[in-house]
Amino acid sequence: MLSVKKVAESCVSSSKLERIPSKYMYLKNKSDEDSVILCDEEAQNITIPTIDFSHLISSNPTQRSKEIQQLGRACTDWGFFMLINHGVPETLREEVLRACKGFYDLPEEYKKQYEGGDIFAPIKCGTSFNANVEKTFLWRDYLKCHVHPHFHAPSNPQGFSETTEAYCKKSREVIGELLKGISISLGEEENYIHKVMNIESGFQMMVVNFYPRCPMPDQAMGLPPHSDHGLLTLLLQNELEGLQLLRNDMWIPIHPLPNSFIVNTGDHMEILTNGKYKSNIHRAIVNKNATRITIGTAHGPPLDAVVGPATELIGEDNPPAYHAIKYKDYMRLQQSKELDGKSCLGHVPLNSN
Ligand code: OGA
Ligand code: NI
Repeated sequence: MLSVKKVAESCVSSSKLERIPSKYMYLKNKSDEDSVILCDEEAQNITIPTIDFSHLISSNPTQRSKEIQQLGRACTDWGFFMLINHGVPETLREEVLRACKGFYDLPEEYKKQYEGGDIFAPIKCGTSFNANVEKTFLWRDYLKCHVHPHFHAPSNPQGFSETTEAYCKKSREVIGELLKGISISLGEEENYIHKVMNIESGFQMMVVNFYPRCPMPDQAMGLPPHSDHGLLTLLLQNELEGLQLLRNDMWIPIHPLPNSFIVNTGDHMEILTNGKYKSNIHRAIVNKNATRITIGTAHGPPLDAVVGPATELIGEDNPPAYHAIKYKDYMRLQQSKELDGKSCLGHVPLNSN
C-alpha cells in the first residue's frame, strides 16, 4: 500500500497547484458535521485540566489528595488532561521523537516487511486506519508495536528499539502512578486497578502516527473522531499541533504546554467504572507546514482479560450498564471497521442489545 508520505512528496513535486488525490478527500461524518470548531481565540478560555504529577506522588498527604481530587474531576468532566512535572526526561522525549522520525525516513522497502499483518501482529506498519475497508484514506501513516508484556520493535534504524523501549518503560511508570490516583479517586485503595486489571502483565501498545504536511489540510483528515481502547493513553507530539477533542458539540483544539503529555481515558476505563469516567471523542487534523509526529502509548489489562463494570463500582442504585467483553475481542471489533466515533462501545451497553 502506498504510504501517504510518498503521496505527500509527489503532491509537492508534481504539481504547482498541490492538490491531494481524491482518495484522500475526507468525507465528514456526523460528529464532524454537527460540531463547530472553535477558533483559537474562542478556545482560549476553554482549556483541559492540568495535572501536576509531582503532586500526585508527593509525600505530603494534603498535596497528594488535592491532586487526586483534581484527577478524578478531570476524568469525570473531560476524560482528558495535560500532565506536567511527570519526570520523563526531556532528552528521552526528544530522542524517541527523533527515533520515530528516523524510522519514517527509512526506505519504503524496509517498512513493507511489517505491512499487512492483522492487529495482533506485534509490529505493524500501514497507512490510514484500516485501508482494506475504507472508502477514503486518512492522511496518516502508522507504526504499531506491542511493547508489553513482551517488547517488540523494528530493529532499524539503529537505536530505535533501545530508545522506544526506554520510553515505553517510563510511560508505564507514569501510567502506573496515574492508575493509583484514579483508584483512590474512585474510593478504592491505590492498587485497586492494578489488581483487578492485572496491570503488571497488562498490554501496552505504542502507536506512532505520521501526518505529513498536507497541501489541502481542510479537505483531509489525520485521524477521524474516535475514542481509544484501553484504560489510559499517554500522548507525546512533536512541535506541531492537531489534536482536537469534542465537548458540548464543539471541537476544542489542544495546545499542550512544552514538555507536557496529553492523557486520556479509554473505553475500558469507561466500562470498568460503569460509565463514571467516560472515554472522550477526539480527532487529529493535519497541517500545511510540516510533518506532525505523535506517539501514543495505550495501556490496558492483559489481552485475555475480560473487562466489565467492577463489582465494587456497581450497586443497586448503579446497575451495570455494560457487558463484560474480552479486551482482545474489543480490539478486534474496533480494528475490523472504519474508525467511527464510539461505535465500538455501542456494542457493549446492556440496554442496546
Ligand atoms: C490516537 C490519537 C491523536 C494525535 O493515536 O489514538 O488519537 O494527535 N492520536 O495524533
Ligand atoms: Ni486516539
